[in-house]
Amino acid sequence: MKQAKIHPAVTVCDHPLLQHHLSILRNKHAQSDVFRATISRVAQFVLQEATRHLPLSTHGIETPLTQTEVNHLSPDIPIIGAPILRAGLMMSDVMLNLIPTASIYHIGLYRDEQTFTPVTYYNKLPTKMDYSDARVFILDPMLATGGSISAALDILCQLGVKQNHITVACIIAVPEGIRVLTEGYPDIKIVTGALDERLNERAYIVPGLGDAGDRAFGTL
Ligand code: PRP
Ligand code: URA
Repeated sequence: MKQAKIHPAVTVCDHPLLQHHLSILRNKHAQSDVFRATISRVAQFVLQEATRHLPLSTHGIETPLTQTEVNHLSPDIPIIGAPILRAGLMMSDVMLNLIPTASIYHIGLYRDEQTFTPVTYYNKLPTKMDYSDARVFILDPMLATGGSISAALDILCQLGVKQNHITVACIIAVPEGIRVLTEGYPDIKIVTGALDERLNERAYIVPGLGDAGDRAFGTL
């Protein structure tokens, strides 16, 4: 894994297989079924890295041969995947595959096409829970202006999630979005499958892969 020069909070996963799958995703001729399956494959690499620092507890068990100590996820530490609708949905099954006991808290946001600012349309996250130990993984393939993920971070921090317990997991990010997140939320971590060049005049990532939600769900 490469610690991106752009900021110490950012890790770019540079596994050769991930790069191979990204080449399929970036191709405008990939159909929705291929696109969704390939996002899952890339997300697997990204989430393995994003979850690297999850805390473990130790307890004793008996194997068929002897007694030993094993490490496991602590049941006292809630693990939450927070997919940003719609495109983040493609990453939530990957998260559940890796951590079947995780909870999935959906956040509905879309980017206004004129202003590029996020509009929240779904937020039913539990308000009575104690979030102080929760480890939260924001799932969204695209970090462009950073507006959508900032809005998700606002929602989570207002509920009491600690910034240093939040990791943003994405497939492609650009320096503009990374700057917005690391300035607004200096204690979060960001793990991405690629660091692209820039945004174009319509705030799309270049070279990018186009509109992730539309490509995934066939609404182009
Ligand atoms: C896309 C993407 C991110 C957002 C990134 O969602 O999945 O959520 O854009 O852009 P930003 O960093 O500039 O905010 P979109 O608004 O297209 O919604 P959709 O997934 O429902 O199509
Ligand atoms: N949202 C996307 O889906 N793609 C981009 O390039 C930018 C924002």
